[in-house]
Amino acid sequence: MKKIAVLNNKGGVGKSTVSVQISHGLAKLGFKVILIDLDGQNDSSLFLGVSSSEYKKTFYDLIDKRNKIDLNDCILNVRENLDLLPNSNIEEINAEFYRESRI
Ligand SMILES: Nc1ncnc2c1ncn2[C@@H]1O[C@H](COP(=O)(O)OP(=O)(O)O)[C@@H](O)[C@H]1O
Ligand SMILES: [Mg+2]
Repeated sequence: MKKIAVLNNKGGVGKSTVSVQISHGLAKLGFKVILIDLDGQNDSSLFLGVSSSEYKKTFYDLIDKRNKIDLNDCILNVRENLDLLPNSNIEEINAEFYRESRI
């Protein structure tokens, strides 16, 4: 399994665009792809035409240790060969990581 991370501190430089385009292109070539959106803006869903009404669980629910959930409950199939793990609640995610780093 290969992993590609797209990251940059600056906003508006094309992270979401590049992530979605690479994911879509690899899926079209026949690779099984999962796009994991770790950005609080959750633009991958927007760019792929998925609205938040289509999913209930997100990356936030996975890291929230107070509620045990199944990874599969967070993953949506959005196109052939392309799955999406959407994001939400970036403030709560940051708070969770901060809390964990202090334990
Ligand atoms: N290669 C590119 N050329 C021109 N505009 C681009 C390019 N990549 C992205 N954009 C545009 O730049 C804006 C920001 O891109 P986005 O992917 O949302 O950035 P980020 O995720 O880093 O905040 C969007 O309007 C997008 O359409
Ligand atoms: Mg973005």
